[in-house]
Amino acid sequence: MTYFQMDEISFGYGTGNRNVIHEFSLRIQQGEIIGILGQSGCGKSTLLRLIAGLEEPKAGRILIGGRTLVDERHFVEPEQRGVGMIFQDYALFPHLTVAQNILFGLHGISKKERGLRLEEMLELVQMSEYSKRYPHELSGGQQQRVAFARALAPRPAILLMDEPFSNLDAELKKKIREDLKQLLRAATITSILVTHDKEDAETICDRIIRMTR
Ligand SMILES: Nc1ncnc2c1ncn2[C@@H]1O[C@H](COP(=O)(O)OP(=O)(O)OP(=O)(O)O)[C@@H](O)[C@H]1O
Ligand SMILES: [Mg+2]
Repeated sequence: MTYFQMDEISFGYGTGNRNVIHEFSLRIQQGEIIGILGQSGCGKSTLLRLIAGLEEPKAGRILIGGRTLVDERHFVEPEQRGVGMIFQDYALFPHLTVAQNILFGLHGISKKERGLRLEEMLELVQMSEYSKRYPHELSGGQQQRVAFARALAPRPAILLMDEPFSNLDAELKKKIREDLKQLLRAATITSILVTHDKEDAETICDRIIRMTR
């Protein structure tokens, strides 16, 4: 059954400009991990921004779990969409510890629940021993795992990842790639991974979509 649905989405930056995304459609099953491959500038990041609600499409609609996020008449604000994002630069808050970073997006639940969720996330990414450390005291791969835990903690409806390996060297990337694959499967979360690396997509994803300009 379709869980995520994007129908005939069109978008261009500024009014007179040509469409970066033109009548783009995509359907994803619950728990599926989709890879988006394409050359630089083809619109991969723009596509994720549209899903996250950071841009508004000119036409088309997006639904998750039967709920309309955007169409001609609706626009759900980014913070109300239940979308988790991981960008290439991990973007952990440098002045917050691992635990504080993971807790950051957890609102509207009791202190006890927050504590439990934190434990659960730390275990998932195997970082329980590091909860009091600051980002600069971690390796690139460890920071990557914390970023993943932070994105997953609020139980997003979908996880969007934009070139999450671009800051890692080749050796570390290989390891993280395997870790990420296991983590995504363990968390059974519907995800979209944007990359220009075919091997990344082939290793991690259930299905690969190629974007062209
Ligand atoms: N804020 C913006 N204003 C105007 N044009 C933009 C803006 N952001 C991106 N673009 C243009 O939109 C097109 C798609 O950009 P996008 O960032 O989505 O590409 P991408 O596929 O993610 O590329 P890369 O692999 O290099 O990250 C490009 O031609 C880019 O120059
Ligand atoms: Mg991009």
